[in-house]
Amino acid sequence: MTILVTGSAGFIGANFVLDWLAHHDEAVVSLDKLTYAGNLANLQSLEADARHTFVQGDIGDQALVAELLEKYQPRAVVNFAAESHVDRSIHGPEDFIQTNIVGTFRMLEAVRAYWKGLSGEAAGTFRFLHVSTDEVYGSLSPTDPAFTETNQYEPNSPYSASKAASDHLVRAYHHTYGLPVLTTNCSNNYGPYHFPEKLIPLVIHNALAGKDLPIYGDGQQIRDWLYVKDHCSAIRRVLEGGKLGETYNVGGWNEKANLDVVHTLCDILDQEQPRADGLSYREQLTFVKDRPGHDRRYAIDASKLERELGWKPAETFETGIRKTVRWYLDNQEWVNNITSGNYRDWVSKQYQ
Ligand code: NAD
Ligand code: TYD
Repeated sequence: MTILVTGSAGFIGANFVLDWLAHHDEAVVSLDKLTYAGNLANLQSLEADARHTFVQGDIGDQALVAELLEKYQPRAVVNFAAESHVDRSIHGPEDFIQTNIVGTFRMLEAVRAYWKGLSGEAAGTFRFLHVSTDEVYGSLSPTDPAFTETNQYEPNSPYSASKAASDHLVRAYHHTYGLPVLTTNCSNNYGPYHFPEKLIPLVIHNALAGKDLPIYGDGQQIRDWLYVKDHCSAIRRVLEGGKLGETYNVGGWNEKANLDVVHTLCDILDQEQPRADGLSYREQLTFVKDRPGHDRRYAIDASKLERELGWKPAETFETGIRKTVRWYLDNQEWVNNITSGNYRDWVSKQYQ
């Protein structure tokens, strides 16, 4: 048996593939375009592993996806491939439309044709799992209840709008063609292999490099943080037992204001790798111009997933964030390799 995983050289996709092969021997075919966010070093430990096959390519290349499905006959497709960074979507939405909407559509077309050609048990057990985000639900006020699966979609950024569109396409392919789909909508992830354009790895990287720690606006925006390996276990669980056509919210019950997250990171770094001058990393905090249209609060109600499929996160924010800081301290070479070239161009454009 084989599964096809797209976006597998990115942050969550790589963690998923590594965890998958650590849990059992079912083979994985990886498809990734290797954009700026894709990094084969994330999958380096699988280089000589016969259970893993990597293919560089675009989910929007329908002929390639069809060829891979025909060749490897996967029993499931898990779709992580996307443009994922809100700030980049504000500077240039085009790639988000191309990959997240058109790319998902082309892949759905290839998957639909493949699935129609399956027979018997293979047709009945096939699954297409689409990995999405809580950002499709829009922004909450401080007193609103957390997002449930029945919340209206109110995406506010080009990123979340493109993800919302992809979710709707996936839903429509189930409703119209009967394609056996599952969708997960997850809160903000953090952990190993997180590209340092996102808040948590950016702050760790900048702190250690003696650079400013940029806080957008007043730093009181709230995100609900989930350790990436808990997201991976939720996806495995939904793939195994999720009801066809259903969506499942995934979250860590860890709402934190950005400023509190950054303070926590500084405090852990103060203990683990104190500054040479004995001052706290908090000294590097800098308030910068807010993100346009910045969503104020996200919060996920993950009780459906717990009630129906028995899933709960294993990490609290406190345990997960310590593991994450430790990982970055132990993997400075990984960080150094990706914080050159394109990355520098992005940082100077965004934080000039
Ligand atoms: P990422 O940006 O780190 O990785 C995305 C990967 O997709 C990269 O390896 C990139 O090369 C690849 N990719 C991009 N365009 C492609 C294309 N056209 N064809 C094939 N591959 C392509 O993103 P991530 O944080 O790992 O997110 C993965 C998925 O999870 C995304 O769909 C995202 O919307 C969703 N998600 C992310 C978070 C989060 O906090 N990071 C939370 C909820 C949901
Ligand atoms: P980010 O990691 O980009 O995830 P998302 O926008 O998908 O939630 O940002 C997390 C939060 O941190 C978000 O409210 C924006 C904020 N932020 C900063 O304050 N400074 C930064 O330099 C970055 C990258 C993000």
